[in-house]
Order: sequence, then C-alpha cells, then structure tokens
Amino acid sequence: MFTSKELRNKWIKFYESKGHLNVGAVSLIGDGTTGVMFNVAGMQPLMPYLLGKPHPSGKKRLCNVQGCVRTVDIESVGDATHFTFFEMMGNWSLGDYFKKEKTAWTFEFLTEVLGFDKDKICSTVFCGNDAAPRDEETAKLLHDLGIKKENIFYLPKKDNWWELEGTVGTPCGPDNEWFYPKEDGKDSSDFLTSDRFVEIGNDVYMQYKKTATGYVELENKNVDTGFGLDRLLLFLNGLDDGYKTDLFAGAIAHLEKISGKSYEKDESAKKAMRIIADHTRTAVMLIGDVNGIVPLNTGAGYVLRRLLRRAIRYSKNLGVDSKEMLSVAKIFIEDVYGEAYPLLMEKEEYILSEIEKEIKKFEATLAAGIKEFEKTVTGLERKNEFMSLKDPAYQKETAISGKQAFRLYDTFGFPLELTEELASERGLSVDKVGFDEAFKAHQELSKAQAAAAKGGLTERTEMTTKYHTATHIMLAGLRKMFGNKTEQKGSNITEERLRFDFNCDHKMTDEELKSLEEFVNAAIKRAIPVVREELPYKDAVKAGAYGVFHADSEDQIVSVYTIGDVDKQICGGPHVKNTFELGKFKITKEESSSSGIRRIKAVLK
Ligand code: ALA
Repeated sequence: MFTSKELRNKWIKFYESKGHLNVGAVSLIGDGTTGVMFNVAGMQPLMPYLLGKPHPSGKKRLCNVQGCVRTVDIESVGDATHFTFFEMMGNWSLGDYFKKEKTAWTFEFLTEVLGFDKDKICSTVFCGNDAAPRDEETAKLLHDLGIKKENIFYLPKKDNWWELEGTVGTPCGPDNEWFYPKEDGKDSSDFLTSDRFVEIGNDVYMQYKKTATGYVELENKNVDTGFGLDRLLLFLNGLDDGYKTDLFAGAIAHLEKISGKSYEKDESAKKAMRIIADHTRTAVMLIGDVNGIVPLNTGAGYVLRRLLRRAIRYSKNLGVDSKEMLSVAKIFIEDVYGEAYPLLMEKEEYILSEIEKEIKKFEATLAAGIKEFEKTVTGLERKNEFMSLKDPAYQKETAISGKQAFRLYDTFGFPLELTEELASERGLSVDKVGFDEAFKAHQELSKAQAAAAKGGLTERTEMTTKYHTATHIMLAGLRKMFGNKTEQKGSNITEERLRFDFNCDHKMTDEELKSLEEFVNAAIKRAIPVVREELPYKDAVKAGAYGVFHADSEDQIVSVYTIGDVDKQICGGPHVKNTFELGKFKITKEESSSSGIRRIKAVLK
C-alpha cells in the first residue's frame, strides 16, 4: 500500500530538490480577508505574496501540504470520491520560474517519482478569451515533454481558469490541468465525453488580478500548483474508492467491527460509514486547528455543527452508538494524522470533549425531532389520502412546509439538510423558500424581542457589551441580597451608563448600595471567564439558569452565559470574555421607577 505519509514526503522532497522552501500548513479557518469561511485552496494564505508582497522568508519558491475544507458538496459525501476535508499538495513560484519549469517538474514528478504512464496522461490548457490568450505555449511545452498531441485539449474558461469564486482583488489565471484514466480504454478519444478521466491536479499560471469589472495583469508571473493528496493516493494504489486508502481504512474497519455490518456488501451501511468517517475527520481538523472552532449556530461553527449532527444521525442509521464517533476521532488523531499534524495530539482531549458535548446536545433532542418529523409526514399522507378520496384529480402535496422545517430546526436543532435528507428518504421534498421566510420572520421577531427586553442594546459596541455583562453581575448581587424573586424589569444601556429596573419593596439603603457595588467589583477583580453554551431549555433551567426569556418548548436550544459561581442566565449576549474587562463599577443613582420597581443607574470606569 502506498501511504499518505510516503506521498507527502515525496512531494516535499521533490520540490525541495528544486529549490523550494517548505512553508508548512496554516489554519483551516479563513482569516476573514477574502470572506471565504474556510481555507479552500493551498494558495489562500499566500495571496498577498501572489499579489506582489515579498514573502517573509525572502524566498520565491515555496511548497507545502495544506489541509482544505470544502463543504459545498456536503450532500455528495457518501460516494467514493467526495470529502469535506482533503490535503492539497502545493508549490508556488512568486514571480520566479514560469511555464517551462513548471510543466517539466509536474511531468517529472508524475512519471518519474510516481511512475504514471506518460502515454496515458491527458492535459488541458486554456483556449483563450478576451482576458487572456490561447495557451499555445503550455501546449507546446507539454508536447515537447512527451505528452501525445491527441492527449492535449484546449478548453474554455469554465474548465481551465482558476480563481477564488465570489472574491475580488484576488490573484487568478489560466490553468493547466492534469488527468489520468481510472480504467484503461483504447485511447483518449472519449476524454471529453466519458468520466473515465479524473483530474489529479493543476498548475495555475497566476498572472492576473480579479477586479470588480474584469482582470488586470499582475507585475509578477506566478505559478500556483495544487495536487489533491487523497485523490492521488487512490490512483497510486489502483483503487476506485477513497475510503480504502490508509487515511480511512482504520476508521472504516472500526465501524464495520462495532456495527457488525459489511462495508462491501451492505450499500446503506457503506454510505453511513463513509459519512461518519468523513464528517468526523473534518470535525477533528476544525476543532483541532490552531484557530480551532467549536459547534455554534452561526458561521463556521454552524458548518461544524451540521457535519457533526449529520454524522450522529448516520450513526443511528448504521445502528451504532453515536459515541463511537469518539473512537473514530481517536483513530484519525492517533493513527492517521497525529504525526503530520502534531497539534491534534496536543489537543486530543479537548477535541474529543467538544465532539462529545455536541453528541450529548443533539442526542437530547434527536429522538423527539424524528418523532415530530414522522408526525408531519403522517399528517401529510393522511391529508393527501383524504383529499384524493374526495377529489381524484387532487394534486398531492409532496413537500414538508417551510414552517415545519423551521420548527425542526429551531426546536429540535435539525439543520435544514437533515430534514431534507429525511424527507427525501420518504420521497418528499422541503419547501426551502418557506424555510427561509420562517427563518427571517423569526430573526426579526427575536431582534424586536431582544431590543424590547434589553432596551437600547441594539447597537453592540465594546462599551455596551461591558455594561450588559455588568447588569448580569449586578442582578446576581441583588438576588443574593433580596432573594431569587428579584427579577429584571427593564434595562437600558448606552455608551455612558447602564440603567436597570428590578422589583424591590423598599428604597435601597446606603449600606445596601455599597455592598452591591462591592459585590460587582469583587467579581470584576476575580477575573472570571464568561462562558457561553447552548443547551435545551429544560437543561438550562435544571442547571440553575434564569432570565427574561420565554421558551417555545422544553427542548428549544437556548444560549446560556455563565460567570463562574456568580451568575448563570439565559441570554442572547453579547458579553465580555472575562469580567476583568469591566474596570470599576460605580452606582450613580437609585430611585423609584414605578410602584414596587426600583431603578439603578451605574457607570464603569
Ligand atoms: N489553486 C489551485 C487549486 O486549488 C491550485 O486547485
């Protein structure tokens, strides 16, 4: 078996022998400069240097093996060749060598280092358009190297141009793509029409910058090469299934053992095993990253949550305890990636605990959600049956309503695609437009509610965030003094001060005010971390959380902020990360607001 480790080493050694510096891998999480959420290509972190800035190493030839996460195809995962995480082997010329050297090295690496048959290699080049000319130069170089003329194809922009979708100000250019046949055929005459040929990598001639209106030439003529390690590995081992390489073999074997099902013989078990393995691997990489993330309801954290929840659901399909995802994660960390990515070993315990937390959270509502889903389907089927009896021409409803899909999302934590998958298993679809509408309506309602509850905290500046955390500590202090029947009755926060109303049957004495101030300042001095978590409403209440909050159901996932042993409230935030950020707390006024309600104004200095 040709292993992933061998391939990584061969790549790096080869390009080091051609004068490249191995710059190592960087974070998988996008740095926010391009608006791309994850690192989707090896060139992404090198963009400033491709645009002309000198690389800090002073070198113009770089290489590495970089992890990438692409989740656009998440629904395709389950087949033999789609993964949400993969490693891209890359090398770059920053205005140094260009087409002549690049074509020669890619050719040498494929034929001499990896032993690919030069007569079977196919290659495509750019056919030209208004922005850039037909790439005769590369075609000639390829032919001179020994690639058959009939194996070289000229293709349009949609095939042979590489750029980061949806961005501007980023480097791009025509590319030269390399293909190899999955299985032998007579020649390449079916190249354009069959799926016998698989792309193994590409050399992008990055000499343009994408602008809002078109392309401008860059001063430097760069090269950006990317070869997918997972895919090459498959070819090198003569396999047609990416889950059979050393990257996945251990995880699949473990899933076979614990489920007692056969990967080869049971198609639905095979799909489930692939999804569990792929998604767990990506989750390990995202949580274990240098800028590691955790499951959340927004942004990159939500993508991670979707991956984990999809894997949990497929564990059920496979008939194994979803906690087995932890054993799968361990296999990836300890046996597969620990050596190449030592940080995963360091963070192992943390990674496992984050996955376990998400499993627990989702397990708490999964069964109830599935029941709810089944009820919806039964209702739909009954209605169709009834209406068809009345009117044989009745058009049966085949979609779960957007409202219901939103309820599954909001109350049971079902990502939309989970509902879609469940629906498609029953021959149904989901009204996505309706879902988006329900989602928006809910967001607007929550915003309005939050604004009403928090009064004035619609603009989240650093200062108003501090005042918000201060009200939590202060309310905790009031409850300590006057009992747990004390509640927030109103709150208004500006950049300059907090104003807080609460129920209290008397005017506060000077001593009471002083001791409240001391309570808040003591909590600030103790530098207590403010921790946010999400859990079902009933668990939040069980854990002692309180707040001005109305849950639609016991299972609704709510956000809880805990300030050490001081306070635990159900609250949408935002809050500071640590109480020491607040500075010094001072009460400026105590007065009556209305009957039985007192009002405090206070400042932070
Ligand atoms: N940037 C090129 C790719 O991602 C190499 O395929």
